[in-house]
Amino acid sequence: MSERVKIAVVGYGYWGAKHVRVLSGLPDVEVTVVDQNEVCLADAEKQFPAARLARSLEAVLGDLDGVVVATPPGSHAQVASRALAAGVHALVEKPLTTSVADAESLVEIAHDNDALLMVGHTFEYNAAVRKLREIVRSGALGRILYIHTSRLGLGRYQSDCDVIWDLAPHDISIISYLLGEMPTSVSAWADRNVGSRHADVAYVRMDFDRADAHAIVHVSWLDPCKVRRVTVVGDQKMAVYDDLSDNERIRVYDIGVDIAMMDDYTSSPSMPVTYRTGDIVSTYLSFEEPLKVQDSHFLDCIRGRALPESPGERGLDVVRVLTAVDSAHANNGRVRVAPSTHAGRLVDDVIPATPDSALRLVGEQVAQ
Ligand SMILES: NC(=O)c1ccc[n+]([C@@H]2O[C@H](COP(=O)([O-])OP(=O)(O)OC[C@H]3O[C@@H](n4cnc5c(N)ncnc54)[C@H](O)[C@@H]3O)[C@@H](O)[C@H]2O)c1
Repeated sequence: MSERVKIAVVGYGYWGAKHVRVLSGLPDVEVTVVDQNEVCLADAEKQFPAARLARSLEAVLGDLDGVVVATPPGSHAQVASRALAAGVHALVEKPLTTSVADAESLVEIAHDNDALLMVGHTFEYNAAVRKLREIVRSGALGRILYIHTSRLGLGRYQSDCDVIWDLAPHDISIISYLLGEMPTSVSAWADRNVGSRHADVAYVRMDFDRADAHAIVHVSWLDPCKVRRVTVVGDQKMAVYDDLSDNERIRVYDIGVDIAMMDDYTSSPSMPVTYRTGDIVSTYLSFEEPLKVQDSHFLDCIRGRALPESPGERGLDVVRVLTAVDSAHANNGRVRVAPSTHAGRLVDDVIPATPDSALRLVGEQVAQ
């Protein structure tokens, strides 16, 4: 039997309810639902009669090991900092915060209070994304030329953030996870169509220096088709990850375009390339609900005092990119992204042997 862990899910809305479902199904977890809205609490009581209910985090903070912060993004910093300051571990939904200063402050508070801070980059716990990273890193696609992502549909319009801060954290997290580096510069186009408050459609361009590759992220709350797709174009092969596919989430296309030999070129000057077409392979995936994998990992980290695979620093890196995107959009130009706290390396490259020194290492790097 594993150590019993007491977790509060703060925010029982669309996504928080999913955390409650997942956590309630895991062994040796006591779940508390915290929401300021009585209607939400009444629903939680009906759906999960075994869960404890509270109107505020303060009312239960003294009797918790961890919190999952699933409130709207603008309140993440305030809710998470209260938990971390009390030494309670926190898994904070994406985006970690809505400003770099708040994200840096959360990382610091966690460090000072010896508490774990994890960001809910759910796709980094998705078997398809992990497989795609394996494929990219194996070199099977050749040199990565560019990545294109589409996250479209009739979206859930948010009151406290635009479509970039709502949806692009997923794509920034996926692309940087695949390439093993954060973007060095960004530019963006965004537009408001419905209501006047927030952009509901956007294209974000990201440039990656080490990979010498580019990425285009298309996010929209206003599109007739639901699309969740990542296309990775290499100079040898190409891969498509379709998150909506039941049994063929990843397809690798042995397809490409080569520069024509001089002889071909002289015989057909209008077409200086030749095309390669070959097999399309759909890779096998042993799939488990990513949210369950992510939340189980949070519990494992609490029990083993281990550094999460998506620590607060990773959330901070993504917030830096989102902030640069805001500035690029406002200035209609290209903006450099402030350097990552762990020097552009993903956390799997910096985890040392012991969890304690891992925490120290990240803390020292933040202080630099
Ligand atoms: N990882 C993912 O795939 C994914 C998917 C959807 C949403 N999210 C994230 O989850 C978070 C919640 O999104 P949502 O769509 O569920 O929002 P929502 O508006 O549906 O729910 C938010 C809930 O939080 C409650 N709340 C707000 N402030 C509170 C506070 N201070 N204390 C207690 N309760 C409070 C509200 O009453 C509401 O019930 C966001 O950060 C969002 O970005 C993540």
